[in-house]
Amino acid sequence: MRGAFVLVLSLLCLGVSVQCYSGRKYDPLGKFMKDRRSKRLVNNPAEDLVLTDYSPVYVAPQEGLKELDKILSLPGQPEVNFSQYSGYVTVDPKAGRALFYYFTESEDRFSKPLVLWLNGGPGCSSIGAGAMTELGPFRVNPDGKTLWYNRYTFNAVANVLFLESPAGVGFSYSNTSSDYVTGDKKTAADSYNFLVNWLERYPEYKTRGFYITGESYAGHYVPQLADLILENNKITNQTVINLKGIAIGNALIDHTDTEAGTFDHFWTSALISDEVHEGIKSNCNFSSANNSEVCYDYREQAYETIGNIYTYDIYAPLCSTSSSAPGVSNFDPCSSDYVFDYLNNPEVQKALHANITGVPGPWEDCNDIISTGWQDSPYTLLPTIKKLMESGIRVWIYSGDTDRILPVTATRYSMPKLGSPIKTPWYPWDSQGEVGGYVVDYQNVTFVTIRGSGHFVPSYQPERALIFFSSFIEGKLPPAQG
Ligand SMILES: *[C@@H]1O[C@H](CO)[C@@H](O)[C@H](O)[C@H]1NC(C)=O
Ligand SMILES: *[C@@H]1O[C@H](CO)[C@@H](O)[C@H](O)[C@H]1NC(C)=O
Ligand SMILES: *[C@@H]1O[C@H](CO)[C@@H](O)[C@H](O)[C@H]1NC(C)=O
Ligand SMILES: *[C@@H]1O[C@H](CO)[C@@H](O)[C@H](O)[C@H]1NC(C)=O
Ligand SMILES: *[C@@H]1O[C@H](CO)[C@@H](O)[C@H](O)[C@H]1NC(C)=O
Ligand SMILES: *[C@@H]1O[C@H](CO)[C@@H](O)[C@H](O)[C@H]1NC(C)=O
Repeated sequence: MRGAFVLVLSLLCLGVSVQCYSGRKYDPLGKFMKDRRSKRLVNNPAEDLVLTDYSPVYVAPQEGLKELDKILSLPGQPEVNFSQYSGYVTVDPKAGRALFYYFTESEDRFSKPLVLWLNGGPGCSSIGAGAMTELGPFRVNPDGKTLWYNRYTFNAVANVLFLESPAGVGFSYSNTSSDYVTGDKKTAADSYNFLVNWLERYPEYKTRGFYITGESYAGHYVPQLADLILENNKITNQTVINLKGIAIGNALIDHTDTEAGTFDHFWTSALISDEVHEGIKSNCNFSSANNSEVCYDYREQAYETIGNIYTYDIYAPLCSTSSSAPGVSNFDPCSSDYVFDYLNNPEVQKALHANITGVPGPWEDCNDIISTGWQDSPYTLLPTIKKLMESGIRVWIYSGDTDRILPVTATRYSMPKLGSPIKTPWYPWDSQGEVGGYVVDYQNVTFVTIRGSGHFVPSYQPERALIFFSSFIEGKLPPAQG
């Protein structure tokens, strides 16, 4: 009976092919976690602690390139009073490897910090998701040709830099195809190299307060890059990067907690039966990379019986069923389709200075070749996060509480493992007279939830996201109610 139901659903989805999804068609993180399980990868504990080589990076002259990267206007863009730039930064001239960025300055650019935003995947674009459907100034209309202004854009309070990383993601490329076999370490090293060169191109930002933020698999990228920066800052005779803090949202922090938190979240959200939940709990060992067939069968049952609901927000409509008019407080589940059309428009690519060398296309939100061949990925980032906490930089960990792929429950399992005493206990924070979510402030780390939000927090709760983000860069706890 259940099998038949799932079969019918699958057929329905095949029938309308691209319509049975919401927001993003391909789920790289889900696939990554599943691959990791099914390949029975065994954790090498040493791998968890070894980061990247700290060594001098390639720096090229960047004079005059900033002016060339200035965007005159994007096709179909409303009038705005801030500047935008985009283009390539070469990170390895021998391999021909270059990363693509999009930079949205604040109207009041001199007084605002510099913030790097990273999406995860691995293999997903910070421009396709972050800039165009989450926290950037523009969203794409259903025509795929014109843009509307997002009044909760994060560049109201920061100069925001979006990076497509690693090479192979979005418009970023390499002329050496073996570069597409990559992993956490190469991604951190290239991102660092990108930053050093980018700061040569934009020297006025060299001493600016700098923050790194991101979500999902960027739960790896952000702490790893922060650690690399702090280590390099100690020894470099190149640019010292003025890193002030990091924030990671619905982040992959720890494999064991993510596994345990995911199935407990399924059960507490009434997505799976008592029997399947019990079956998983009594047959799976989430600290072990090698589980029994019974465990895998129960896990498969869990995913099958959930049915066709959106991976990134358990309460969101699917693209095929959405009928409401798009708007900032009403996220359009077909947004990724519009972004796909927009960024594949040659006029748009020209305005963005993208794809100047003829990168094989089309531009995609996520590159599955990159994620499938991913080489190194520690099972836990807890030691790296602890190290960052002790370094004195600001560390915030946040979570939209209706996400299914990296649920708040997983993050909550990890928080006590950071071993930090509570300074300000759990309280509801205020968003225009409503509860925006909850906060716990620990020594050196702050945990924040965003209520009623899926994985892509600024998509689903744009106003709450901006309040939360403003608090983060101001170094204040989110406002209390009252
Ligand atoms: C600093 O510069 C010197 C001289 O150019 C060089 O020998 C040394 O390797 C550099 N050190 C680092 C960490 O970049
Ligand atoms: C841009 O600035 C001008 C002059 O201050 C102002 O009149 C206009 O409304 C602003 N436009 C936008 C879109 O903010
Ligand atoms: C789970 O697996 C870990 C790692 O292999 C092992 O140390 C632990 O004893 C196991 N726990 C149980 C309850 O079997
Ligand atoms: C996984 O467990 C199975 C059965 O318990 C065992 O035969 C196999 O060697 C284990 N694999 C690894 C990589 O430990
Ligand atoms: C780059 O442009 C070419 C046409 O010049 C196009 O065929 C290709 O799909 C584009 N690549 C990307 C990544 O959009
Ligand atoms: C917090 O940071 C200080 C130094 O900045 C350090 O002494 C202390 O151990 C840290 N505590 C935790 C729990 O990370």
